[in-house]
Amino acid sequence: VAPGRLTIRGTTALAGVIGWPVAHSRSPLLHNFWLARYGIDGAYVPLPVAPGAFDVAVHGLRAAGFRGANVTIPHKEAAFAIADRLHRSAVRSGSVNTLVFAQDGTIEAHSTDGDGFVASLEAKGVDVARGPVLLLGAGGAARAVAASLLDRGMAVSVANRTTARAVALAEALSGDGSVPVSVIDWADWTDRLPGHALLVNTTSLGMHGGPGDVFTPDLSRAPDDMVVSDIVYVPRMTPLLTAAVARGLRVVDGTGMLLHQARLGFKCWFGVDPEVDADIQALFDADL
Ligand code: ATR
Repeated sequence: VAPGRLTIRGTTALAGVIGWPVAHSRSPLLHNFWLARYGIDGAYVPLPVAPGAFDVAVHGLRAAGFRGANVTIPHKEAAFAIADRLHRSAVRSGSVNTLVFAQDGTIEAHSTDGDGFVASLEAKGVDVARGPVLLLGAGGAARAVAASLLDRGMAVSVANRTTARAVALAEALSGDGSVPVSVIDWADWTDRLPGHALLVNTTSLGMHGGPGDVFTPDLSRAPDDMVVSDIVYVPRMTPLLTAAVARGLRVVDGTGMLLHQARLGFKCWFGVDPEVDADIQALFDADL
C-alpha cells in the first residue's frame, strides 16, 4: 500500500472525537498519524454530534463496534453520566474526555488531561516528585492537573481569581490519602512563589481570544530552579512563559499536554503506546 493511502477494511478498528462543533479538532490528525506510523488497521474520525443527541450517538457507536471516543465541548457532563464505570482519573478530576467501549458492551470513562500534563513534564525531564506546585486557576483543567500532581505525591497550592472556586477544588481533592491542597489569595501569588518548584497556569489568561487582561506577572521572586508551565498552547509562547524565559526559568509549553492526553486515549483503544516524538510535535505545530 502506498504511504498516505487510507485503507478501511472489515476489520478496521474505529474511534473518533465527539463534539459540536468538532471540525477544528486536531485529534484526527494526531491519531491517524500514529495509526499509520505503527501500521495499525484503524481509523479515527470527527463525529459532530448535536447537543441532545449525545446518548443516542454514543450507544450507536458502541453498538457499531467502535473502540471508543474522545469527548469534547459541549458533551463533557453527558459523558460523565453515560459511563457504566468511572476510571479513577474521571472520579478525581470530576471530568471525562475519553470513553472506552469494553468488549462486554460497557462504557468506561477516563480523564486523560491530568496524566497527560504530568507525562508532558516527565517527557521534558522535570522531576515531578520534587514539588511543591503553585497552580493558577480552579476550573475543570485545574482540577484534573491538581489530581494527577497529588497522585504523584506533590504538594499543591491553588490561587484563583474567585477564591471560593479554589476552596471548592481543595475540598474536592482532600481525603483519599493525599496531602491537603492549600489555597493562596489571587492577589498574593507572585509573593508566594518562593518555596515552590513548579508554577502551572490553567487559567485562560494569555490565551489567544481569551480574557483581554494583560498578563505579565512579576516572577522576580521565583526560585532560580523553578519550572514554569502553561496549559494554554495558543500562542505556544504565552505571556507567562515569555516572562519566565526572561527571568531565566525553564519552561514547558502546553502542546505536550495535548499530545500526551491523546497518547493515553490511543493506548486504551488501539493497544499501542505511541511515542510523542519530534515528528508528531512538528505535525501538531504546523497545524496550530
Ligand atoms: P476550564 O474548565 O477550561 O479550566 P473554566 O472553568 O472556565 O475553564 O476556568 C477558567 C479559569 O480561568 C478559572 O480559574 C477562571 O477564574 P475564575 O474562577 O475566577 O473565573 C480563570 N480566569 C478566566 N479569566 C480570568 C481573568 N481575567 N483573570 C483571572 N482569572 C481568570
